[in-house]
Amino acid sequence: MDSTLHTKWKECGVPDVHTLKNKHVIVRVDWNMPIIDGVITDTSRFDVTVPFLKELSVAGAKIIILTHFGEKGESLQVIATHVMRALPFISFIPTLVFEDIQKSISKCKEGDGILLENVRMWKGETENIPSLARSFASLGDVFINDAFSVSHREHASVVGIPKSLLSYFGPTFMRELEHLQNALHPEKPALMIIGGAKIATKLRLIEKYLNLGVQVFVGGAMVHTIWKARGIEIGKSLYDETQNLSETFIHHPLLLTPSDVILSNGNRVLYHAIPKDGVVVDCGSETTEALATIIHNAKTVIFNGPLGLYEKGWLHGSEHILTTLAHTEDITSYIGGGDTVSIAHSLHLLKKFTFVSLGGGAMLDFLASGTLPGIDAVTK
Ligand code: 3PG
Repeated sequence: MDSTLHTKWKECGVPDVHTLKNKHVIVRVDWNMPIIDGVITDTSRFDVTVPFLKELSVAGAKIIILTHFGEKGESLQVIATHVMRALPFISFIPTLVFEDIQKSISKCKEGDGILLENVRMWKGETENIPSLARSFASLGDVFINDAFSVSHREHASVVGIPKSLLSYFGPTFMRELEHLQNALHPEKPALMIIGGAKIATKLRLIEKYLNLGVQVFVGGAMVHTIWKARGIEIGKSLYDETQNLSETFIHHPLLLTPSDVILSNGNRVLYHAIPKDGVVVDCGSETTEALATIIHNAKTVIFNGPLGLYEKGWLHGSEHILTTLAHTEDITSYIGGGDTVSIAHSLHLLKKFTFVSLGGGAMLDFLASGTLPGIDAVTK
């Protein structure tokens, strides 16, 4: 761990809320939560931010809350209803008219909070246009980033605002940093389990951990790209044809791949016996048993991304591994990624891991590079 970096994080850590009485405090949270039929199905990202927002309110700060929701930016209405029910000192201002927002803020009393409309509805948020960042910044005296899970994005509300305001990390952010910094150099023997579809965004991370002497098991559709590069038949399984993987990478001795798989018709076959019309949807029982043995002998395990086709309900491989990991003693375990955490949540296992990151892509990018754009923006 780079100790200079650590000192910098600490210096920008959560401010003493009592110094924020009557100050306009902009808090960037990540309330990007799954909504099905108008109901939020997992409120974890809101729940973790509640104690700090309450503290700020009790201390007499005037709180301006920014969050994104969805990729394109639909209204926050459903989320806002939930928020205002749980935290009645917060009002939602569903407008993009800046003067109206300024008026509402000027009427705020000590302890009040204002939730602005989805930041991704503002032109310039995802492009990080400086004028938008300055407009957001003009609403407050202090900026607190408590949204680790979006801090891999160079967006105006993440990296732009700190350019013109005194900035800190919030408690949820600091908790992610404190835990994940230990995963940057995991105690060995260590195993990283990476699933999901896109290998391109995870290649740097996988290579980094292989070079650290960590065994990396690749599951999900990513492994099809590796098998294709090795000349193995993958049938009609999803793979990334744009990837040109190096020989050194695909034959790295610490790179582990499934020895058996489940096909979409439910059959289990060995990895080198995938039929031409077969579609791989999960890893098989021989693979999960072999991983369980590695887990039992490991000191650290990092798991991010489902091992099967999550959207179609192929959860067995991920469930098996999460259950094994949860019940293994004397192990440091980190899990992250929306789908992985949601599987662990449905198995009631969340309390069984050393740390559950609220970040998906942010956790992976942080582990790959030891920092994130949103971290650099606050510390620099
Ligand atoms: C997430 O869900 O991973 C974060 O909220 C970031 O969302 P994004 O991938 O749409 O930027």
